[in-house]
Amino acid sequence: MSFDLLVDLHKGNARQGPGGDGQTRLAMALAGLSDVSRRLRIADIGCGTGSSTLVLAENPGADITAIDLIPAFLEVLSARAGRGGFSNRVATLACPMDDLPFEENSLDVIWSEGAIYNMGFEKGARYFRRFLTSGGILAVSEITWLTQDRPEELARHWTKEYPEIASAAEKIRVLEELGYALTGYFPLPESCWLENYYDPLEKGFASFLVRHQTDEARSIIDAEMAEIALYKKYHDHIGYGFYVARKV
Ligand SMILES: C[S@@+](CC[C@H](N)C(=O)[O-])C[C@H]1O[C@@H](n2cnc3c(N)ncnc32)[C@H](O)[C@@H]1O
Repeated sequence: MSFDLLVDLHKGNARQGPGGDGQTRLAMALAGLSDVSRRLRIADIGCGTGSSTLVLAENPGADITAIDLIPAFLEVLSARAGRGGFSNRVATLACPMDDLPFEENSLDVIWSEGAIYNMGFEKGARYFRRFLTSGGILAVSEITWLTQDRPEELARHWTKEYPEIASAAEKIRVLEELGYALTGYFPLPESCWLENYYDPLEKGFASFLVRHQTDEARSIIDAEMAEIALYKKYHDHIGYGFYVARKV
């Protein structure tokens, strides 16, 4: 599947996955970061066009490196950071999340909304831990089963798309086994999927198909529409969990 098509479909949007500014702030509160006045070295990994980065930057002590594989997303992020007056504290870096240039024990916070799945939750949480200071914070959101009974159609789709999909209890156990202590967990509300992510994405489908009149473009849109329909049908069973944990 063409990378360029996916970038074109997503780069005009504020988010490339489910999330919300209020939920980023809630996770910051659960991390104990809301009223920290000291300087914080933060990496926002898989930041996309940077909605979480901009919320993190509201803390005047935050020095953020926003990392993504896709330079086009980072260009959008840089422009947004400039408009927010955060350019002096937000740097961007195009690099793969499994090859980070940081020193060990050098980051106070690793943030990653809807992106750790690219490495896999367990592999990513294990790899990121080495870069955190003792007591440093890992905050990640990740697709999560909300119930134990799962409709067959839903289970088949997501187990194929992401075999590591699991319940919050299983994800939290993984974090604890890797040497983290949980400081908070919450599931994202439906508005984070529908209003903040799927609705703006859907609005771009028609113009995308005008720009790209190919079978591949059509199949990308068909796949997005199928995923949206599946979410709308089964949102009681599937969500995004926000996991906030401290390195111990
Ligand atoms: C589902 S999007 C989430 C983006 C953003 N955090 C948000 O919530 O809107 C996943 C992001 O991870 C990035 N990504 C995918 N694979 C990556 C990798 N190996 N290294 C770094 N970033 C990656 C994608 O470019 C994309 O921006």
